[in-house]
Amino acid sequence: MPFITLEGIDGAGKSTHLPWLADKLRARGVEVVVTREPGGTPLGEKLRELLLAEPMHVETEALLMFAARREHLDRVILPALGRGAYVVSDRFTDASFAYQCGGRGIAESRLRILEDWVQDGLQPDLTLLFDVDVAVAGKRLVANVSLDRFEQEQQDFFERVRAMYLQRAEQFPGRFRIVRGDRSLEQIRADLEPIIAAI
Ligand code: ADP
Ligand code: TYD
Repeated sequence: MPFITLEGIDGAGKSTHLPWLADKLRARGVEVVVTREPGGTPLGEKLRELLLAEPMHVETEALLMFAARREHLDRVILPALGRGAYVVSDRFTDASFAYQCGGRGIAESRLRILEDWVQDGLQPDLTLLFDVDVAVAGKRLVANVSLDRFEQEQQDFFERVRAMYLQRAEQFPGRFRIVRGDRSLEQIRADLEPIIAAI
């Protein structure tokens, strides 16, 4: 069954559209498992707390992202796909390439090793990339009372993250769909309708 991931820089609008997307799929009468990374399991949520708050070496950050993902695959994603459910995840491995490689500068070859190890060939069937200007996303985040360790990064960090997302969309056109996130919710939903209808 389809494995769908939502990606984009912080403030792109993923979380806003996720419940709507899940309801659309549920209307087909299928089971839909909504989850997120880092997190999605009790241990993964603990790792998320550390990842979002605790200063650490960039490679520790990458390794913990994949440790949480290993757990997530084992306990949530693979069982759900196995019983025929749809899985919709707010972020997955493209985020590691975008943030840890693009943003932090880790070599992609290193992450590919972790990806092969942890995923053993599994890839999302569909990745919705919410693409928005870094300045637009930044303005949306200003309303947040407290910013986590990633959200506190500067504009150039998010420019690199965004560029890596777009590079991956070009590299994997079969599963990526780019959604322009700088428009009204209605317009974005109208863009999403045919994409969802096709899965
Ligand atoms: P993400 O999950 O990608 O980090 P969110 O969905 O949490 O982003 O959106 C960040 C903020 O921007 C929220 O306050 C949300 O209400 C707002 N927002 C999301 N999409 C839009 C949009 N298309 N236009 C204006 N504001 C938006
Ligand atoms: P997210 O839940 O999307 O944050 P928010 O709800 O505040 O938008 O993701 C948390 C942060 O983790 C986000 O800044 C991106 C980062 N992240 C990585 O750096 N690498 C990864 O592999 C994942 C999954 C997330």
